[in-house]
Amino acid sequence: MRWREAGPVVVVAVLQVVVVVVLPSLLQPAHAAWWFVSQLSASYTSTRIHCENIPGLVRRQRVLCERHPDAMLAVTEGATMGVQHCQKQFQDSRWNCSTIPRDASVFGRHVLRSTRESAFVYAINSAGVVQAITRACSRGAIMNCACDITKKGSHRDRMGQFTWGGCSDNIRHGTAFARRFIDAHERRQRDARALMNLHNNRAGRKAVRKQMRLECKCHGVSGACTVRTCWQTVASFGSTARWLKRKYDGATEVSMRPDGAGLIPRHGDHKAPRKTDLVYLEPSPDYCGEDSSSGFAGTGGRQCNRTSQGTDGCDLLCCGRGYDTQRRLITSKCECKFQWCCFVACKTCETWRDLHFCKPKQDPLPLH
Ligand SMILES: *[C@@H]1O[C@H](CO)[C@@H](O)[C@H](O)[C@H]1NC(C)=O
Ligand SMILES: *[C@@H]1O[C@H](CO)[C@@H](O)[C@H](O)[C@H]1NC(C)=O
Repeated sequence: MRWREAGPVVVVAVLQVVVVVVLPSLLQPAHAAWWFVSQLSASYTSTRIHCENIPGLVRRQRVLCERHPDAMLAVTEGATMGVQHCQKQFQDSRWNCSTIPRDASVFGRHVLRSTRESAFVYAINSAGVVQAITRACSRGAIMNCACDITKKGSHRDRMGQFTWGGCSDNIRHGTAFARRFIDAHERRQRDARALMNLHNNRAGRKAVRKQMRLECKCHGVSGACTVRTCWQTVASFGSTARWLKRKYDGATEVSMRPDGAGLIPRHGDHKAPRKTDLVYLEPSPDYCGEDSSSGFAGTGGRQCNRTSQGTDGCDLLCCGRGYDTQRRLITSKCECKFQWCCFVACKTCETWRDLHFCKPKQDPLPLH
């Protein structure tokens, strides 16, 4: 009678499967974003993406996901890169691009609004996907795409003549797939926010293309670079992220044209944004206080720099609330020496350092 014992266990297991599989697609949260794919764990994605389980995908995205499992792995990788580099670019700012575990919007709902920060998140995730798909094409990891075969014969640049060779990254395929997949989210209605997102998605795609560079190998007698073979390659994603951060700093505030046909600068004296520029519709909050409804944690407890005049300085980062100082023992490598042969040996040093942390948001003063 063993099966009797196993009975309820099996039922529970089946119920769990049903709940896990069905709930996300039935209860598609309104604030879900496609870049939720960045939160799927690596072990899960290394084999195959289960398109039906991912919150944040609209129907067209689900269809693309099912048809192109190889490209979807690159989409996941691209969004993960987008999140990592967003955090790196904003580590010294009040808004630090942190993610909320198991939240379908990933960064909190405030990022799905139309601020400068939303603009950056859309652009960097879009750029990440272009980059990852392009690289995957060159590696031969995606069907129907390969190196750019239009680059052949000889060509000139500032340093003279060279011959195309090797595998030039084929950015056209990456751009086309990123556009089809990511922009699908905005196809349903064309309100100001959709236009903004489409513009910033495109700025992200263009950022990768703008950063492409030539890599060359020299041939010639004793290292003289008389003959060069070159190929075109996408830059490291770090430089694309830095480019987009500068675009964030110079982003243009826009509003919808009265006829609804596009976006124009909100301030008449500003020049129209270029396709590579970021645009936003509403001013950002000051990101000082915690906002539980939008998932923003505030800057209480963040480490700040007492002497810096930048955004990581205690004055700016703590929004004038002040900071607490803690003396902590810091261990680091020191007195490193080169040893024959071939490694570097270091000692471990301990020093006491004063670290500063923003005070939490002040409670109202007690009345008495
Ligand atoms: C961002 O700041 C919060 C505190 O406000 C901190 O808990 C979180 O770890 C930070 N995230 C990143 C990615 O640095
Ligand atoms: C704090 O800022 C100063 C000035 O910008 C810089 O020289 C210093 O390295 C920073 N300290 C830390 C711990 O980051």
